[in-house]
Amino acid sequence: MNNIEEILKKKKLTKEDLLILINTEKAEDIDRIYRKAYEVKLENIGNKVYYRGLIEIGNKCIKNCLYCGIRRENKKIEFFEMTREEILESAKWIYENGFASIALQAGERKDEDFVNFIEELLIDIKKISNNKLGVTLSLGEQTYETYKRWYDVGAHRYLLRIESSNKDIYNTLHPSDPLHNHDTRIECLMDLRKIGYQVGTGVMIGLPGQTTNDLVDDILFYEKMDIDMIGMGPYILHDDTPMGIKYKNEVISVEKRVELGLKMIALTRIYLKDVNIAATTALQGLDPMGREKGLKAGANILMPTATIEEHKAKYQLYNDKPGISDNARESKEYLDRSVKAVGDQIIYDDWGDSPHFRKKKMEEI
Ligand code: 5AD
Ligand code: SF4
Repeated sequence: MNNIEEILKKKKLTKEDLLILINTEKAEDIDRIYRKAYEVKLENIGNKVYYRGLIEIGNKCIKNCLYCGIRRENKKIEFFEMTREEILESAKWIYENGFASIALQAGERKDEDFVNFIEELLIDIKKISNNKLGVTLSLGEQTYETYKRWYDVGAHRYLLRIESSNKDIYNTLHPSDPLHNHDTRIECLMDLRKIGYQVGTGVMIGLPGQTTNDLVDDILFYEKMDIDMIGMGPYILHDDTPMGIKYKNEVISVEKRVELGLKMIALTRIYLKDVNIAATTALQGLDPMGREKGLKAGANILMPTATIEEHKAKYQLYNDKPGISDNARESKEYLDRSVKAVGDQIIYDDWGDSPHFRKKKMEEI
C-alpha cells in the first residue's frame, strides 16, 4: 500500500498529511484523493447538490482590492444597480423554479441608504416567498449592527472570503490602508458567528507567492474559525487591475490552478467532512468542466447566476467570466444536465443548510 492510501485511511489527518496530499503529483494518486473526497461527501451529505440562485445586485464598491475587476479605481466599469423590483422579480423566478435559496452579492457599500435598501429588500423577499426562500448575503465587511439588522429580517447565511489566511499574502492583494485590513475581516467573521449566521468564507487559489503550505493553512483556518460553508476558487487575472497587469506572465498555469482548486475542494471535504462546499464559477472560468469536476471532488453547492441579462457583463470580477451571456433559464438547464452526468441529484425546495451548522444547533438544544 502506498503512502497516500495509508493517509486516506486515517480518521483525522495531520497538517503533514494534508501537505503530502496537496503536493501529490501522480495523476492516479490525485484521482484517488478525489474519489476519497467523493466518498466522504456521500457519507456526510449524500449525492446531493443544492442550488443557490446568485443575484449580483450592484457593482459599486468602496474597496480597491488589487485583483478585482470592480475595484473602486477601475475607471472602465460601467456602473449598474438593480432596482428593488428587478431583484424581487429575479428572486421570484428563483423561488418559483424550486431553488430554495438565493444569494445576494454586490460590491461593498456601507452607506445608510444601502443598509436600509437591503433591510427593506429582505423583508420583501420573505414576503413574496411566504417566508420560505433562504437568503445568503455576500455584501462584504459591515458593522455588527448592520449584520444584526439584516439577520433580524431574515438573512441567515453570510459569505465573506478571507481571500488568504496568510496576512502577508492578504497584504499583497490589497492596498495598505485601514479599509483593507486582515484583522477586521476576521473580526467580521466572528461577529457573524456571534449573531447566529451560518458563516461562509474562502480563499483564492494559485495567487502569486502562495505556497501549498499556505493553502493547507487555509484549510486549518476554516477549522479554527468553525466555518460552515466554503466558496473558494482559482485566482483569475483581470486585465484592468494592478495584479492583472503585474503578474500577466507570472501566474502559475491554468491547468495547475484548476488542479490546485480541485485538490483544495477534495482536501477540505476529507478534512472537514460535513461543511457545504461550492464548486465556484471561477473554477468553471478556467475549465469548462470545472464545476462538474468540483462536484466529483467533493463539492455539494452550485451557485448559478440569476442576475438579469442586461447587467451580467458588468459584473466582471475577472477576465472571461463564464455564463455572462446566458440567461438564468439556460444556466439552470445546463447545470441540471451537468449534475446528473456526475451522478449527483439536485435537491429542490430545501434550504440545504450545512450539516455542520445543523449539528451545532442540535447540540445547543
Ligand atoms: N479571480 C478570482 N476570484 C476573484 N474574486 C474577485 N476577483 C477575483 C479574481 N480576479 C473573488 C474574491 C471575492 C469574490 C467576490 O470574488 O474571492 O471575495
Ligand atoms: Fe470590492 Fe469585493 Fe472586488 Fe474587493 S473583491 S474590490 S471588496 S467587490
